[in-house]
Amino acid sequence: MIVCICNNVSDRAIRQAVNEGVTSMVALRSTLNVGTCCGKCHSCAKQVLRECLSQAAPVSQPMVFHPSLMAA
Ligand code: FES
Repeated sequence: MIVCICNNVSDRAIRQAVNEGVTSMVALRSTLNVGTCCGKCHSCAKQVLRECLSQAAPVSQPMVFHPSLMAA
């Protein structure tokens, strides 16, 4: 489905952007130019972004070992 007609951005492209780390409309706008022309796609793009973020796998946190905890 095309979300942004002006810039030919699909929901698939938004999903891919989320998988590559996009988490906000500001980032989506700068990455894919969504909503940078007429702006009519903003609410739909935001909805797709929210759906993609809710379905995205949680990013695992790196394990950090603190030296003071290792001495005990
Ligand atoms: S439809 Fe997205 S900027 Fe016009």
